[in-house]
Amino acid sequence: MNSLNQITEQAREVMRRDTTWPFLVPRKRSVNVSKNVILYLEGLNVSFDGFQALNNLNLYVNDGELRCLIGANGAGKTTLMDVITGKTQCDSGSAWFGQNIDLLAHDEAEIAQLGIGRKFQKPTVFEAHTVFHNLELSLQGAKGVWRALTATLSGSERDRIDEVLEIIGLEKSRHQLAGALSHGQKQWLEIGMLLAAEPRLLLVDEPVAGMTAEESERTAELLTSLAGKHTVIVVEHDMEFVRSIARTVTVLHQGSVLAEGTMDQVQNNRDVIEVYLGEEA
Ligand SMILES: Nc1ncnc2c1ncn2[C@@H]1O[C@H](COP(=O)(O)OP(=O)(O)OP(=O)(O)O)[C@@H](O)[C@H]1O
Ligand SMILES: [Mg+2]
Repeated sequence: MNSLNQITEQAREVMRRDTTWPFLVPRKRSVNVSKNVILYLEGLNVSFDGFQALNNLNLYVNDGELRCLIGANGAGKTTLMDVITGKTQCDSGSAWFGQNIDLLAHDEAEIAQLGIGRKFQKPTVFEAHTVFHNLELSLQGAKGVWRALTATLSGSERDRIDEVLEIIGLEKSRHQLAGALSHGQKQWLEIGMLLAAEPRLLLVDEPVAGMTAEESERTAELLTSLAGKHTVIVVEHDMEFVRSIARTVTVLHQGSVLAEGTMDQVQNNRDVIEVYLGEEA
């Protein structure tokens, strides 16, 4: 059988399972957070051509936390997100999502299905579609290709989109084309597209870069409002923004955790002053 036939046969098989025997479709495994910790990263090492981007990194994040991750350029913040989401393989270490899910045993697509959403710096909304349709596409995409091709929205899905529009403050722009939104609004829409799938853990890399002061403030409110129901890890260089949202701040330096605590604690930490914040003084 040639490969095209094989793919077609596999597709038919998926459709048969999906439509006829829904109980056979693998369910998204739910994360066990009985110890209140949703992310355990231990001894992570990643090197690129001999350069140690993550160096024996240990990080624990509680369920429902809003955690800020700071550190100078090249400290390893994005690499850390790449490892959590399965984009980059680590050389050694362990990464667990709750008590039960070994992240290193899953690929990028599976990790997204497990309930870990990632927001990159550049918004990637569908500019030629309305705000509502963008949310609809992300919701249907999350259910799998075959349903996305054929499905119409159920009542509860419509409700979820309305709920997300309210959370991201774009109710009044629902019929507007995404391309006509401001930079800040596009960023919120993309956060909304992730929220549609109700992720347990949301990773957000430099959300306020390029935003106006007012948009930054609104983003602070948005991310703060997500904590509790979702666990949010935010990487950001804008210290005023970090101060406005932070409960616990983790400082990365040369691929390791240098300090952790409240914003005041890390800002007064001698090591941090020396290697990072001190540079800005
Ligand atoms: N794919 C790659 N190949 C080679 N080197 C890489 C790769 N990805 C990252 N690096 C290097 O690893 C180091 C850590 O990069 P990373 O992007 O994680 O830093 P960061 O803390 O996110 O920095 P920034 O604040 O500038 O975004 C940098 O020195 C970077 O050049
Ligand atoms: Mg980065």
